[in-house]
Amino acid sequence: MRAPRWWDEQVLPRMVDRACSSHEADRWRHSVCRGAGVRGTVLEFGFASGANLPFYGDDVEQVLAVEPADLAWERSAERRAAFGRPVTRISRDAAAVDLPDRSVDAVVSTWTLCTIPDLAGALAEAQRMLRPEGGLHFVEHTMSSRPLLASTQRMLQPAWGLWAGGCHLDRDIPGELGSAAYTIHHLQSAGWFVAGIARPRRT
Ligand SMILES: C[S@@+](CC[C@H](N)C(=O)[O-])C[C@H]1O[C@@H](n2cnc3c(N)ncnc32)[C@H](O)[C@@H]1O
Repeated sequence: MRAPRWWDEQVLPRMVDRACSSHEADRWRHSVCRGAGVRGTVLEFGFASGANLPFYGDDVEQVLAVEPADLAWERSAERRAAFGRPVTRISRDAAAVDLPDRSVDAVVSTWTLCTIPDLAGALAEAQRMLRPEGGLHFVEHTMSSRPLLASTQRMLQPAWGLWAGGCHLDRDIPGELGSAAYTIHHLQSAGWFVAGIARPRRT
């Protein structure tokens, strides 16, 4: 079941802007977007209104944005103009991105792996598009390792998922990355957030 379309299209993008704007969020954005290897062509999953743009370093040449919400993209106009380098919306779904193999230097996801409906498909796409030395740079909320919190997350999930655009409180993000053949480097955990660089295990 999903919320009404007007909720997802008109209300949710504004709520995301509010919910993901704080000093703490900015500290995470800085740490992810300035991570070693975030350079050249960056593919961003869940671009929303471009809140990561001010945090990218000068060696990021262009950002390719994946974002389903038209309103979020419109709301990113000012940040795109200030960024001063190309920012192109190339897809609405991280599981279906029309880019050549090995064509991006880094994939960035800030609080988006929780929401992508076909997460396995999106992680496979990222693997396909990343250049050999590239990685998926992320900060996400994840399933708690504490049983009481985890059961609260499971309990809240049905209502939360409905009104939060399909966001999963109960996704084990490091577990999903491991299952999708990534190895996580520099894993940091703080509260219910996890951050790190996931590199494809190439055979
Ligand atoms: C919680 S928000 C995070 C937004 C942004 N990354 C930030 O840090 O503020 C999740 C974002 O994922 C986007 N999203 C939903 N489904 C998606 C999909 N299939 N592919 C890519 N992004 C998606 C939503 O529209 C939303 O902008």
